[in-house]
Amino acid sequence: MADTDPLVIFTPSGKRGRVAPGTKVLDAARSLGVDLDSVCGRRGVCSKCQVAPSFGAHAKHGITVAEDALSPVNAVEERYDRVRGLKPGRRLGCQAEILGDVVIDVPPESQVHKQVVRKRAEVRDIVLDPAVRLHYVEVPEPDMHSATGDLERLLAALKAEMGLEALGFDGALLPSLQKTLRTGKWAVTAAIHRDGPPTVIGLWPGFHEAAFGLAVDIGSTTIAGHLTDLASGEVVASSGLMNPQIRYGEDVMSRVSHAMMNEGGAAEMTAAVREGLNGLIATLVGAAGIAAGDILDSTFVMNPVMHHLFLGLDPYELGQAPFALATGAAQRLRAADLGLALAPAARVYILPLIAGHVGADAAAVALSEAPHKSDELVLVVDVGTNAEILLGDKTGVLACSSPTGPAFEGAQISAGQRAAPGAIERVEIDPVTREPRFQVIGSDLWSDDPGFAEAIAGTGLTGICGSGIIEVMAEMRMAGIVDAKGLIGTAEETGTPRCIADGRTQAYVLWAGDDAHPRITVTNGDIRAIQMAKAALYAGARLLMDKRGVDHVDRVVLAGAFGAHISARHAMVLGMIPDVPLDKVASAGNAAGTGARIALLNIGARAEIERVVGEIEKVETAIEPRFQEHFVAATALPNSADPFTGLRALVPLPEPHFSGGGAGEEGGRRRRRKRD
Ligand code: FES
Repeated sequence: MADTDPLVIFTPSGKRGRVAPGTKVLDAARSLGVDLDSVCGRRGVCSKCQVAPSFGAHAKHGITVAEDALSPVNAVEERYDRVRGLKPGRRLGCQAEILGDVVIDVPPESQVHKQVVRKRAEVRDIVLDPAVRLHYVEVPEPDMHSATGDLERLLAALKAEMGLEALGFDGALLPSLQKTLRTGKWAVTAAIHRDGPPTVIGLWPGFHEAAFGLAVDIGSTTIAGHLTDLASGEVVASSGLMNPQIRYGEDVMSRVSHAMMNEGGAAEMTAAVREGLNGLIATLVGAAGIAAGDILDSTFVMNPVMHHLFLGLDPYELGQAPFALATGAAQRLRAADLGLALAPAARVYILPLIAGHVGADAAAVALSEAPHKSDELVLVVDVGTNAEILLGDKTGVLACSSPTGPAFEGAQISAGQRAAPGAIERVEIDPVTREPRFQVIGSDLWSDDPGFAEAIAGTGLTGICGSGIIEVMAEMRMAGIVDAKGLIGTAEETGTPRCIADGRTQAYVLWAGDDAHPRITVTNGDIRAIQMAKAALYAGARLLMDKRGVDHVDRVVLAGAFGAHISARHAMVLGMIPDVPLDKVASAGNAAGTGARIALLNIGARAEIERVVGEIEKVETAIEPRFQEHFVAATALPNSADPFTGLRALVPLPEPHFSGGGAGEEGGRRRRRKRD
């Protein structure tokens, strides 16, 4: 290029170069590697190539842009502006020619690979590059002299414009092909699926710009779906429903049993989940006001049993050692083959499973939290009925799953309930008076605030949710009401009449009850259930730390709905998670759902997670001898083997030894002597 040729500077990329006078802005962008979109093949139809030139002096860039630096607005731009409207100051990059030095801004909506910003500072934004892209094309009309079919002419036109060697066409579109071409007067928009051999999976007459994708997390209890605009990356509707398989069993193992014991049981559950998904799709489509036929792609994550049942595979082998998967590989399927009511040729991508007990949901958490890209050693815990645990950094990642059971969700707890209005979720206990105060979901008031009675008249006071039980138990430990072994002291031992006999053990009265609301206590059985759950969780994490040869981790990420509500300090007092500074514990929210959305929005993320899952070292907790040892140590609060020195410097952890009350005074004395 000659020095006298126009200099073009693109913002925000800062890419610059000289181009021959008369070069179209879109061509200049392409030659300089600037991310500028085009869906209509420069026909002035899509406006995806919109840019904003700026004129006048640009001291920063050392140039002055003359008013005539670009060619005047041409007839195509005028037509577009007339029909669909261009924002003031915008030009179509496929029409405007560069005549002089110019600075051109590419707005976010015109970037092909725009960033979808995530709220948390420690995670990467998502680069938009979905597997499905729309392409507007004009197709030569048939004539009497050439015998080519409409499909062949469509594919030839698309291949020529897109520079493709081969292009497939989904047979589901064939019946409507001829009508679509004629309705569009030989101009159509094709959706090209690029995850695999490029294939046309959608076709509309004229210019069509709606393209949506669905990211779904099939949990054993709930199914959550996020309907996402593939052009902007925005979630346009989210919804959830109870997994209809619940009627066949609360947890995964009871569903495996149902499949084992009942002829056709697996097929029933497959039909139930697919029907539930179609209900979810209908809800999402209704909420977003879009057509189900515009949902072209979908991604799914789930645990191995949910995976097999969704695919119509018998989960029999997952019910017994060695827990062999039918397949753990990522799946690329047609939605219609799974009975899903999306676009007729819509695609399904299922993330890979990590192991027989560690599912695609954990793979999605890995994609979202990216331990494989972390400089620090990070422990990622997705807490549910099974805890799925990842430990790693740039040099490698380990994974395991640990059977925590449903206690963290409020099950097995005497006053336990799901997180819903009326459930106690925050608790404080005064370490001197040992008097509690608490908050319930649905009200900001503490139980000792004026107006609390009126507040619970509205919300109810019905029980304790999972995060509430963690808090009350940790507060009891810090206030010296529970000892390191998890025994609640008697009223005499603790000095509070709130400790009452409960059969052979003790209970702590959190709420004495009133006319409208029953008494709420924390029993030694409740504490035992949480001890078992948290010991399984910690032992899994500790086992991975052993494998890695470390005694500490740099940071902890708590994923899942439970992780989103749990207080890091209280979790650590109980020894649920390793001892790290509290500011190194982050909540990732629904990381599995986020991972599904990343795989939906970025085709490269699919290859990435398939590679990462292949490299993850899988650890089977059931056959590791040290798991039991870690489990026993982790039943103590916080732990009988690991020192938790950081935590101890932060909070009081009194060391009383209680009798638990139940074995009688003599028995209690004997036990105390033995401990001493
Ligand atoms: S490329 Fe479609 S309007 Fe310019």
